[in-house]
Amino acid sequence: MKYSVCMFAAAVAASALFFGCSKSDSNKDILSSAKDAVSDAATAVKDTAAAAADKTAEVATAAKDKAAEAVEAVKDAGAAAAGAVAGAVAGAAAAVAPKEGTIRMITEATFPPYEFRQGKEVVGIDVEICKAIAKALGKELAIEDVEFDSVLPSLIAGKAELAAAGITVTEDRKMQVDFSVPYVRTGIVFVYAKATPFEKGEQAKGKKVGVQNGTTSADYVREKLGQEPEMFDSPASAFAALKAGKVDVVIADIDPAKAVIKGQDGYDISDLLTVEEYAVAIKKGQPELLATVNKVINGLKDSGELDKITDDMTAKANAMAAAEEAKPAEAPKAE
Ligand code: ARG
Repeated sequence: MKYSVCMFAAAVAASALFFGCSKSDSNKDILSSAKDAVSDAATAVKDTAAAAADKTAEVATAAKDKAAEAVEAVKDAGAAAAGAVAGAVAGAAAAVAPKEGTIRMITEATFPPYEFRQGKEVVGIDVEICKAIAKALGKELAIEDVEFDSVLPSLIAGKAELAAAGITVTEDRKMQVDFSVPYVRTGIVFVYAKATPFEKGEQAKGKKVGVQNGTTSADYVREKLGQEPEMFDSPASAFAALKAGKVDVVIADIDPAKAVIKGQDGYDISDLLTVEEYAVAIKKGQPELLATVNKVINGLKDSGELDKITDDMTAKANAMAAAEEAKPAEAPKAE
């Protein structure tokens, strides 16, 4: 009895949440009546608990009636609200479940040594961390590679279970997703031509600053320099623009910044402009998954395995940069 009332109320609450997604004015009245009904139902559920304790069946029945009323109110919510629900359901449907026995990691693979492509394969520190998480869950890891500014939205939309992309923990992002314990402390730097060095943040004011889309480097340019950055889809393409004289300086996370200037004599990086920490993100409200992710990351840190992975992947990224350099120069691409 108690359980079924709770289920009722939960269903009603879920519907109301869907309505909450709809911002249209015409839905507001409907919404508030549905919300009232939900709060009635919630109260009814509390009463039910009391009733169970008292073994008073009447109160439970009353609670059920209230919940039923709430459902009616929601039904009355009409076509507009129904549309909102349909939209939300369609959105949820877009979130395809992972293949049986796999867990999906979403990333953006232009960020050595955290994630980069070796041939077709995506490799890197984040990949190794997620493989360890998959193993702890008894699953295979599948990797999805998207633009960086789509990583968290895709996670939230249910297109992957883990997001790992050198993602800095920020207050804004903490409102959208749950973060694991951090696995590295790092930060962002200037990447500049030695002929025109950049050391302090203010030096970049009024200059053309290249960054990767959606990153904390872009936030830095907006918040600390009070201007719009020039957006690129990877640290390497921002660096290519610097070399081509299209931007004055680049800001990027220190490790990929080191990777892009590898073997480029005329370029250097500054000291850290910020202190940031990377963590794995998961969709909110999954305490069990979060506990497993944290346990795996803490284990990798404590055993020294994470240091080993970091050294291996840094060496791998460097070897690839060296091989790249040894190739005959490509003719510059026309734009
Ligand atoms: N740490 C920065 C941020 O979270 C940049 C991360 C970019 N990661 C990537 N895989 N491209 O905003």
